[in-house]
Amino acid sequence: MNHHPSPHPASPRLNFCPPSLPARSYFDEAWFLQEQKNIWAKNWAYVGRANDFKPMTMRRLSVAGQNIILIKDRDGAITSFHNTCRHRGSELCTVAERALNSRLVSCPYHQWSYDFSGNLVRTPFVSTTDDFVKEDHGLFPVHVKDWNGCVFVCLADTPPDFAGVPDVGLSVFDNWPMKDLVTGHTMVKELDCNWKIFWENFSECLHCPGIHPELCDMVPLYGQGIMSPTEAIDWTPDTTPPERTLKQGARSWTMNGEACGPEFPDLSDDQRKAGYLFATLLPTMFIVAHVDYVRIVSLTPLGPERTELKAEWLFPAATLNADGFNLANVTQFASIVMLQDGAACEMNQRGLKSAKFENGTLMPQEFEVFKFHEWIRKHLGSNEKPEAGQ
Ligand code: FES
Ligand SMILES: [Fe+2]
Repeated sequence: MNHHPSPHPASPRLNFCPPSLPARSYFDEAWFLQEQKNIWAKNWAYVGRANDFKPMTMRRLSVAGQNIILIKDRDGAITSFHNTCRHRGSELCTVAERALNSRLVSCPYHQWSYDFSGNLVRTPFVSTTDDFVKEDHGLFPVHVKDWNGCVFVCLADTPPDFAGVPDVGLSVFDNWPMKDLVTGHTMVKELDCNWKIFWENFSECLHCPGIHPELCDMVPLYGQGIMSPTEAIDWTPDTTPPERTLKQGARSWTMNGEACGPEFPDLSDDQRKAGYLFATLLPTMFIVAHVDYVRIVSLTPLGPERTELKAEWLFPAATLNADGFNLANVTQFASIVMLQDGAACEMNQRGLKSAKFENGTLMPQEFEVFKFHEWIRKHLGSNEKPEAGQ
């Protein structure tokens, strides 16, 4: 058998072994604050499914360490503002979520009231002087974007073009009825690790053979520590790709391998054969779409060494309501994988606190981790950033 000493040039594998990010980037407070400011506050952050947010409701959220509100009006339009009153800066919303009884948001302190576009409408109990111009005292707006029924916010004055956010393009899920899917199950878990550790773990499958027996059984390729046939050391463009990526007989990522309901009608044959389709939206979430359901995993950095992970399983309403629908058969599969990944992330975090560890080294198969590090270096934008390829 002919083994190539180096991968084919068209393979995504790296042809060098670059250093990983410095250890302190995973626990240093100043580094973390810089990421909040330059990465999380400047990019789109996923804040939930539009159809999980009731009309005439206000939510209080933390994005990039900033306190913001999200408002949904009677017709379903969503707006977002910093959670600070223009009078003397009180919070406008003091609870995670509350119903709105009128078309105004009232500050709980002295009752200044704003419409859902953020305009100051009423300043009760006060008589203002001529130098006070109401129009100059509207709420500070936050940009909002709905993509496939997923709501994103961006704190930047000029947000990045959303078209550039999903790594595989805006139309990747056009064959899935994304907007209409409803949430059947949510899992929230706090992890004792830096948020970048999550993405690094997500970006390689070298850990799959050791960490994920169930997943490797479902996707035999993962059992070789690779995510796609193009990563195999002896791959060439002439190599015939496997006919299917899931194990024989399996249709979806469920405990028994069966689809949990009717398959989405508009998928292509290739999409059915693939069995899963990932899209990554850095830094905030990834989506994985199957033939019968969709899963969203999003993260929120809570501190340098603490990250909230949220997984949402989305289904057609008819699937959820069908007699005999077995939710656990679906959710257990990815829950097992995510808990395995979570434990691996925490183990990674603990180890890199060693006084001896300055930075690691990426292997050729970790090309997606390298890409992620390059993305971090590009967005971090300061003297603190490590020299690429050093
Ligand atoms: S701080 Fe909001 S009305 Fe006074
Ligand atoms: Fe994993």
